[in-house]
Amino acid sequence: MSRFYLTTAIDYVNSRPHLGTAYEKITADVIARYKRLSGVTTRFLMGNDEHSQNVFRRARELGLEPLEYCNRMEQEFRGVWQALGISFDDFIRTTEPRHRVGVTWMVERIATAGDLYEGFYEGWYCVSCEAFKQEKDLVDGNCPIHRVRPEWIRERNHFFRLSKYRDALVSLFDRHPEFLLPDVRRNEILRLLEGGLEDISISRAGQAWGIPLPTDPSSAVYVWFDALINYASAVGLGDAHDARFAEWWPADLHVIGKDITRFHTVVWPAMLMSAGLELPRQVFGHGWVHLGGQKMSKSLGTTLDPAEVAGKFGADPLRLYLVKEIPYGQDGDFTWERYEERYNVDLANNLGNLVSRVAAMVDKYRGGRLGAPESSPDALASKASETVQVYRRAMDGFALHEAAAAAFRLVDAANEFIAQTEPWALARDPAQAGRLDAVLSGAVETVRIAAVLLLPVMPAAAAEILARMGENRPPASLRLDEDTTWRVEPERVVSKASALWPRAE
Ligand code: MSP
Repeated sequence: MSRFYLTTAIDYVNSRPHLGTAYEKITADVIARYKRLSGVTTRFLMGNDEHSQNVFRRARELGLEPLEYCNRMEQEFRGVWQALGISFDDFIRTTEPRHRVGVTWMVERIATAGDLYEGFYEGWYCVSCEAFKQEKDLVDGNCPIHRVRPEWIRERNHFFRLSKYRDALVSLFDRHPEFLLPDVRRNEILRLLEGGLEDISISRAGQAWGIPLPTDPSSAVYVWFDALINYASAVGLGDAHDARFAEWWPADLHVIGKDITRFHTVVWPAMLMSAGLELPRQVFGHGWVHLGGQKMSKSLGTTLDPAEVAGKFGADPLRLYLVKEIPYGQDGDFTWERYEERYNVDLANNLGNLVSRVAAMVDKYRGGRLGAPESSPDALASKASETVQVYRRAMDGFALHEAAAAAFRLVDAANEFIAQTEPWALARDPAQAGRLDAVLSGAVETVRIAAVLLLPVMPAAAAEILARMGENRPPASLRLDEDTTWRVEPERVVSKASALWPRAE
């Protein structure tokens, strides 16, 4: 049976999720839900990255023990993810014992492979990136991402022989062009590999907040080396590798932001090669969500609270906006004006209005019950089946925006069909009763299929629409193949209810 193991980046918890970090979780959730809808056994992992110096500092500012602070933040994160309808199957924290076991095992394996050595590190370190920086990376002496001056570090460190894996990585990218998507990200990494790789420091001397380096417990494992291992420790990496590891490793897809592709497609595969483990099959580096054209960042204070945005029209309109309006893989922008405009067009006027009209007409002309029609509108039925194909191709190629747009084109087609067939005129002529049945059933069926397609993007709203159209099976039991095939039901009970999305003025 096919299975799909999908992960997102794990978040630093020095502040609450913002719209940019939420974007990543929402898009990964769409992929997870699409896989489940396709009948694939899916495991969707998320989590928190806790051993960062910024987390430690934030806890201290608040007068809390770091772990106590992280416990509180876990609740904050889970609360936001729940409000956004994120359907993760597992949530890992890097302070959990299961993760420590995995990190310890992995570092020991890498040491046994001869890939760790002691050296001296002197150079810049940006705490917000949790990354070592070279002079040439800085702009006016500052980290170009966080616009703060990095710290100068001089310490004895343990190094990982990353340089040794350069050729193996080049060959990986050669053999598996699909390993890193989209292509712009792949090209960046190929250029980086062409320039050669330097070994990296993987420990921080004398640091108490972190996982002790098994080969030198006075040092902590460098937070990135620690964090990357979460994907494997969450499924049981460790001394005995429990049964889940055999079942779920390697991961099928890591969904991450474009700023951290180097860690995921250079450092992480090299670590796995060194430890003799299989490599993840694919990494997708999505773009950035900007706020009114400005970079969104915790450290710059230009962020938006996703729970607040979801509070305005609900989580599903926000999910739809982020998925449909931003070509997946590229950068995109959020402004309240544009958000409201799209809400009115796509939801209030288009999908919401369609659902209300169809239910109201079935109620008015047929008392809410439709029998089997004598015929189906062929053009609409073929539009639906063509849409399903376009949708599948788009989803399978991670063009999530195109998949959402395809579902909305089917909604447009249903609206046009109603405008052309004029059920209100048919209803005035008793001789047209059979035709009216066919038109109403065709409209209901099209709305039903569009709602199945929208389940991954707008899970709650699509479930509500399905229920109104008389689908009484639980959404989780629906399957893309069977349930997007045009149906002629012997009976449908359609219910009228209040507007799903009242127009925003
Ligand atoms: N903790 C590391 C990831 C470790 S994964 C082994 C980290 N954390 S983060 O909290 O800074 O970012 C979490 C994810 O959110 C990253 O994939 C990052 O690229 C993404 N984003 C952060 N800001 C973003 C936007 N403004 N827009 C889209 N994604 C953004 O990095």
